[in-house]
Amino acid sequence: MNLDFSQIVPYIPFMLEGIWVTIRFVIVAIILGFILGTLLALCKISSIRLLRAIAGSYTSIFRGTPLILQLMLFHYAVPQLTGYDITPFMSAILAFGLNSAAYVSEIIRAGIQAVDKGQTEAAKALGVPYREMMIDIILPQAMKNILPALMNEFITLTKESALVSTIGYLDLMRRSQVVGSSLFRNFEPLLFVGVIYWLMVTGLSVLGRMVERRLNVSD
Ligand code: ARG
Repeated sequence: MNLDFSQIVPYIPFMLEGIWVTIRFVIVAIILGFILGTLLALCKISSIRLLRAIAGSYTSIFRGTPLILQLMLFHYAVPQLTGYDITPFMSAILAFGLNSAAYVSEIIRAGIQAVDKGQTEAAKALGVPYREMMIDIILPQAMKNILPALMNEFITLTKESALVSTIGYLDLMRRSQVVGSSLFRNFEPLLFVGVIYWLMVTGLSVLGRMVERRLNVSD
């Protein structure tokens, strides 16, 4: 077997720096996706038809096309359209944030609609106003369905983040390729960052399970 991990040792700090580069844009994208996703979910359950139609089309477009295509559109087409260059970081948070919003909106909408209808009916019968009903009765129950699914979305986003290596963003994935091509050995650096991705995702899963357990305690 032709494996020699000693050669990647000088490059380890360079590759480790990629962890923060990756995490940084994933966090910003998650926040953007969550805020926009919540707004879209509210549109989806609203009684105004136009809002429902807008949110529905948004989700259809962002879930119906490949994320890598959206990423490249932002990175290569926006400069053509506007004349302004866009940094890989900006393209990455835009593509990942907007894409994630489509998924998050469905998670939140489904979570809210999964709460038993009797809860809404009882609140209405008791004369609880809409705002209070949502905040005090429906949303706390919806959280149980939403949080685990949301953690899954964060995990997906962390793994899909490797796509930004295609637009020259020096993330974890791209760094392994840079090291691979300067050493003419790809297996070792790829395996190294593979373990790092796995550790990051495992950390998120453990966090997710902790959140789930806490939610079950409150039952
Ligand atoms: N590979 C899928 C795509 O290219 C991933 C989409 C992102 N998924 C997500 N849950 N945000 O479309």
